[in-house]
This record gives sequence, structure tokens and C-alpha cells, in this order.
Amino acid sequence: MKKFYITTPLYYVNAPPHIGHAYTTVAADVLNRFMKGQGVESHFLTGTDEHGAKVAAVAEAAGVSPQAWADDISSKFRQLWAHLDVRYDDFIRTTEPRHESCVQKVFARLLAGGDIYKGRYQGFYCVSCETYFTDTEAPEKAGERRCPNAECAKPLQLVEEESYFFKLSKYQRPLLDLYKSKPGFLSPAHRGNEIVRFVESGLQDISISRTKVKWGIPVPSDPQHTIYVWFDALTNYISGAGHGADPALFQGLWPADVHVVGKEIFRFHAVIWPAMLLALNVEPPAKVFAHGWWTVSGRKMSKSLGNFVDPYEVTREFGVDAFRYFLLREIPFGNDGDYSPESMRKRYNADLANDLGNLLSRVVQMVDKYLEGQLPRKPALAPGSQAAALATQAQAIGGCMKRLAFSEALGIIWAGVSRLNQHVNATAPWTLVKTDPAKTKEILFDLVSSLRIVAGWLEPFMPQTSAKIQAQLGVRLVPGETSAEKIQKGPPLFPRK
Ligand code: MSP
Repeated sequence: MKKFYITTPLYYVNAPPHIGHAYTTVAADVLNRFMKGQGVESHFLTGTDEHGAKVAAVAEAAGVSPQAWADDISSKFRQLWAHLDVRYDDFIRTTEPRHESCVQKVFARLLAGGDIYKGRYQGFYCVSCETYFTDTEAPEKAGERRCPNAECAKPLQLVEEESYFFKLSKYQRPLLDLYKSKPGFLSPAHRGNEIVRFVESGLQDISISRTKVKWGIPVPSDPQHTIYVWFDALTNYISGAGHGADPALFQGLWPADVHVVGKEIFRFHAVIWPAMLLALNVEPPAKVFAHGWWTVSGRKMSKSLGNFVDPYEVTREFGVDAFRYFLLREIPFGNDGDYSPESMRKRYNADLANDLGNLLSRVVQMVDKYLEGQLPRKPALAPGSQAAALATQAQAIGGCMKRLAFSEALGIIWAGVSRLNQHVNATAPWTLVKTDPAKTKEILFDLVSSLRIVAGWLEPFMPQTSAKIQAQLGVRLVPGETSAEKIQKGPPLFPRK
């Protein structure tokens, strides 16, 4: 049986991770946890992109070898993922032998088949973005050429050398056919249209080797050349799935179900990568999803502004779950959005402290006080109950998750939380208990059952919160089973900030 296979980009190791990296990785983790919760076998691969001129340069400046530098930064990514409760199934580094040998085999095969050929390259190279630009992409202005990527805009280097090329031009038609035959391959649709227009305008072969960059994977038949970092890194999605090394593993994973990427690298994933796979005669993934970018208090995150948001700083104040929640709730996945300490605090106080946290503590206290802590045995999905009404939303939430519409899914869950709070207010169990204890019990049991459902839905997004609610409400962490234990009062989930 093929598993559901989810990937993130491999992050560069030139600097430690920030909120942008956390965004993509948490999103992939949420999807992976959701799938697993549905009983679907799912596999989530992330990792680090460690070769190239930029890494070599920062390592040299720091006086260490590129490998030692990469080891250090790569481990910082893994530490952050552990801290953020990201549970990946595999972590791949482009300096690992399993990856390097796969890249070399892929290169050799495309060379033998004529999809890679040797030529001469003349172009403009941005060391920072590890990207080549043509005359027209980076026109000369005031006697110099700068990186057309507005966030970078660093001066480009003129490079002229012998180089291997990948015959991207040959894949214009097959790519356009692919976009037609796999609806949803280019997601979200509005970003997909840009890709189609780009491919329709014609594709040029791309240079995929450098003789000047030493920190990279050598071309097997011509070790003077190292393989272009993007050709190297993109291959991780199949090297990490055992391509050419472990056929059973590969069959069980490939094709990937979704590559989650930031919008700035959509072209690499939606044009070059599927063309490489077509050349290899390997089926392209089902979907490439390009999400938007986070700015900080309205400004781009950049080294020069020094405004990178450190995820540890946010979690120190608000906790890991609130951070995960904020990232996926604040902006629809696919759009751009802005991080500010104020918006984080607002979401925390409104959605988490007031709506969810209050609901739980009210229900727990009332069960404790009016029912001596007694809990319902089975989820009471009696017709007309709050829990039954809530449960009808499961399908809609599942639909959102499958479309990676995380914010929408959370919106549905929070609408349910609001209805439950209104129900508490409307039924006023604290008054009712004086005249109708039986009805009060029914209402409180219904609220407990409803909160158990909410806790289950929250697991992918806020695993610790979900576990805390389930512990308070006597749910064993075995799906479908509940225990008849007494309520366990706990400290507030989200103390107001
Ligand atoms: N190494 C390449 C990817 C190779 S994949 C075969 C790379 N690395 S990166 O470290 O620059 O990571 C880029 C990714 O990090 C983006 O595509 C996005 O997923 C995430 N983000 C980095 N900064 C971001 C924001 N400011 N906002 C949202 N996500 C961003 O590109």
C-alpha cells in the first residue's frame, strides 16, 4: 500500500531557522498528523540543503569547514522541530551518502539518455539565491546588474564556463500536458496560472554544473564539475524515498502527494522538478502547493533589517501550541500575511484564552461542582445534542484539511467552540442545577462530549493542548474509547497575557 507522502523544501544551512521555515514545517506536520489520525499511513520528509557557494562562503568566514558548519546549522533545524512538536518521519541532508549517490545516478542516467549535454555557459549568477539569470531577466542598470529577486537585489557575477545543461526546452509541451492532466498539481490555482504562462512563453535549457563551486556533488564522469545546488536539492524528494536504492520503499511512497513550498520557489518545483522526473521516466508528484510569505510588522524579513522572528522568542511567551495555532489560523494557507507581536497576542487572548480555555475551565468546574466530577462513559451523540451538531462538521473539516485550507478548518472548529460557549450562557447550568439536576447533568455531559470532539480535531494543530483537554476529560489516548474516570481539574490552558 502506498503511503501518503508529504515534503517540505530542504532549508539552506546558511543561517538558523526563523518563523518562515517554521511555517512550512508546521503546516506539513499538521497535515501529516491529520492523515495519521484518519488512519492513513503517512510519511513526512524534511531536511537541509547543504551544498553550494553560499554555504562554503559563510563557513569560510566563520573559519570552519563547510561540513562542520552544515552539521551545526542542520542540527539547529532539528532542535527547533523537536521544540515545535514537529514529528517528521525522515530528515534528509544533501551531504548524506544516500542522497549524493542518488543525485549522481540521476545525473548519469540523464546524461546517457541525452537529456543532459555539455556546452558553454555565459550568464549572471546570484550567489545569494544560487540562481542564474539571463540578459533579459537581469538587465543592466547604471552600469551593473543586480539580482531581479526584489528581496535580494545583490550584484550579480558574470560567469563564463564550460557547463552541463539540462534540456528543459524539450519539456515545454509535456509540462503543459502535465498541468492539464493533473488538476490540482499547481496549487493554489491563482499561482498556477503564472506558471502556465511562464512555460507557454518558452523554456530555455538550464546550466546544471559549475566548475568554480567546489562544495557540491561532483559530476560522476567529470569530477571537475559540481552539480548545481538546485538539481542536487530537488532530487531529495526521490533520494529520500529510496529511488534507485530501495525499490520497495520507493513504491510505497512515490509519487509524493504534496510538496509544500514557499511561493518564491514554486517555479523550481513546478517546472524544473517535474521536467527532471519526466526525463527520468518517473511520475511527477500529485501536487505542489505554494504558500505565501510572512512579513514582520509590515516589512520583509531580512538580515539587514535584523527583523527575523525567532520562533523560540514567540514560544517562550505564548507556548508552542499557541504559535502553531497562530501560524495556521492567522492567514489562509496560500496567501501572504503579517506577523506582529500584537496580532499574536490578540489571537492568543481572544481565541485561546477566552474562547477555548474558558469553555474548558467552565465545563470542568461545573462537572466538578455539580456532578462530583462524574464523566459520561460514551460520547453522547443524542439527536438534538450539541455534540451531535458538532460532529456533523467532521466532513467539512476533513475536506479543508485535504485542500490544505488550515485556517478554514480552524474557523469551523472555532465556530463550534463559540456555539458551545453560547450554549453554556443560554442554559446557565449554575441556575438550572437548583431546580433540575437531571437536565443539568445532561447538558454538562453533552458539553464534555463536545469538548472531547474538539480535542480530537485539535490534535494535529495543537498536540499538547489536545492531550491536556483529553486528560482532563478522561479520554484515553486510544481512538474511540473513553474512560469513566472522574474529571481531572488542571491549570488554565491559556492564562491571559
Ligand atoms: N534550499 C532551498 C529549497 C530547496 S528544496 C529542493 C530554499 N531554502 S530556504 O532555506 O530559503 O527555504 C525556503 C523556504 O522556507 C520557503 O520556500 C518557505 O517554505 C520557507 N520560508 C522562508 N522564509 C519565509 C517567509 N518569510 N515566509 C514564509 N515562508 C518562508 O529555498
